[in-house]
Order: sequence, then C-alpha cells, then structure tokens
Amino acid sequence: MQVNEKMRNRYPLIGEKRWSVVLLVILGIIGALVFTTTILQTSNNTLFCSLTRTSNQQSNPTPIQLRAILHYATSHVVPQQSLEEISITLNVIKSLNRPFNFLVFGLGHDSLMWAGFNPHGTTLFLEEDPKWVQTVLKDSPELRAITVPYRTQLQEADELLKTYRSEPACSPAKATLKGNEKCKLALHNLPDEVYDTDWDLIMIDAPRGYFAEAPGRMAAIFSMNVMARNRKGSDVTHVFLHDVDRKVEKAYAEEFLCKKNKVDGVGRLWHFKIPAIGNNDTRHDSNDSTFC
Ligand SMILES: C[S@@+](CC[C@H](N)C(=O)[O-])C[C@H]1O[C@@H](n2cnc3c(N)ncnc32)[C@H](O)[C@@H]1O
Repeated sequence: MQVNEKMRNRYPLIGEKRWSVVLLVILGIIGALVFTTTILQTSNNTLFCSLTRTSNQQSNPTPIQLRAILHYATSHVVPQQSLEEISITLNVIKSLNRPFNFLVFGLGHDSLMWAGFNPHGTTLFLEEDPKWVQTVLKDSPELRAITVPYRTQLQEADELLKTYRSEPACSPAKATLKGNEKCKLALHNLPDEVYDTDWDLIMIDAPRGYFAEAPGRMAAIFSMNVMARNRKGSDVTHVFLHDVDRKVEKAYAEEFLCKKNKVDGVGRLWHFKIPAIGNNDTRHDSNDSTFC
C-alpha cells in the first residue's frame, strides 16, 4: 500500500494509463463482437433464406395434400384397407425417401391418401368404371385417372389359369402387354404413359372381383408381373395386392407374382418385390413354362 501510494504520488499518470488500456481493450472486444455479428448476420441471411426457400418447397402442402386433409377431416367413410395394411405400403414409401411412380388399380376412398403420400411424384389411377371416374374427379380434380376396359370376367378365372400356358403370347418367354391381343390376361390397350413409365409401386386393389360378371383381378395381376419383369434398368417393383383372402387373388398371386417374391403381408394384403429381368436376361431363349 505504501509503495502504491508512493508510486501514485511520484507518477500520477500511471493509474490513469492503466484505466485507458483497460478501456481500450473493452472497446476492442466490443468492436470485434459487433464486426463478427454483422458478418455472420449477412452470410446467415443468405444461407437462411436459401434454406427456408428449399424447405418451403418441400414442406408446403401441395393441393393434393390439402384436398386429402380436408376430405379425411370431413368424411365418415374411410379406406377399406386397415391401418396395418396401409402401413406396409407407407413404410416402403418412407424407405424410398423420394418422389416415385405409383400406379394404383381402382379409385376409391383411399385415392386421396395414396396421391397425398406422393405429393411430388406421379400417381396414376386405373379405373374400370367411367362413371365412377367422373364422380371421383368431380370432387377431387387433382387426381389423375384413366378408364381401363377389361376383357375378363371373374367366372373365367379358373379356366384362364388352366389354359394360359397353351397361348404362346402369354408365355413367360414372350409375354408383352402393348398390343398383345392374343393373350387375354394382358392389358393390351392402355395409354402409352402406362407402358412407358417404370413404376416403383403398384397397388392392386381393383377391379372388382366379388361377383361372377366382374372383371376380376386376373389381368391386373398377370400384367403387373409382366410390366415389373420387363422394366428398364435393374430396379425392383413393389407390388401390393389386396384381398388375398379370396381364392382368385391368392391363386393368381402364387402363379404370377410368386411366393419367392413375397416379402411382407398382413391381414388381406401381400407385398411382393418383383425384380427386373434386365439386359442379361435369357428370357427369350428360355423354355420355362412358369413365371415363378
Ligand atoms: C374394392 S374397390 C376399391 C376400394 C378402395 N380400395 C377403397 O378403399 O375405397 C374396387 C372398385 O370398386 C368400385 N368402387 C369403389 N367404391 C365405389 C363407390 N362408392 N361407388 C361405385 N363404385 C365403387 C370401383 O370400380 C373400384 O375400382
């Protein structure tokens, strides 16, 4: 204390200088902080804006999703598939984690849900009944649906299964779809978009197959197997078939979609992963008389 007192008395400016240095250091720190914050804010704004723009594009609900929310919030009718059945498809959709090509047989109370699950991809519905297409599209014009004429009736299912092998145009080695009039199981006159697209997911929950004159799902099952096998590239096609508790769906699934391709199932829904035959295929030299 004595020394300090002496020093202060001898050199009165020392104390003031020290305070000046402390003040300068504090001002320096504040200046550096202001400078850094300004720089960060400027760059963050640019970064933040672009992030917001990207995530807005991804997260803003699309018209089809808004329609679906409104529909299911105000409708007393729910899809026929159970929560567990729908979850099988939804889990596959989540695992893809990208927009995809989704072909759905039949328009129904589930249509807005399927389309809403794929807001940035392509979802196309194939419906047997033109009047039902009009009714559904009147309420949900965002859905894309095509009317498909069928050449089969449910009452022919057993006979077709017994005899298709004798028609070369239905054989595993030669079966095609477009223009294949000879094979009654081939959906031969669909719009080109259906043939030209590599469908990632196919949902077969139509046409109707619960009375003798109904088209039945025979042609849908046969044709989707042919389509999946013949797709370009090496990707698999996920095929979901509903109502497998019925004799025809079960028999045709086992004949064409094949037990070895069945990867999941719950309730009345089976999930198949059908591999593409690809370029190395020996299909055209094959004498195989079965698809499985
Ligand atoms: C088994 S339903 C498909 C039902 C659909 N998965 C659902 O959850 O609503 C198959 C076919 O029944 C017909 N259908 C379904 N609902 C209908 C309705 N309310 N009126 C007329 N036809 C209907 C359509 O031809 C449809 O393709």
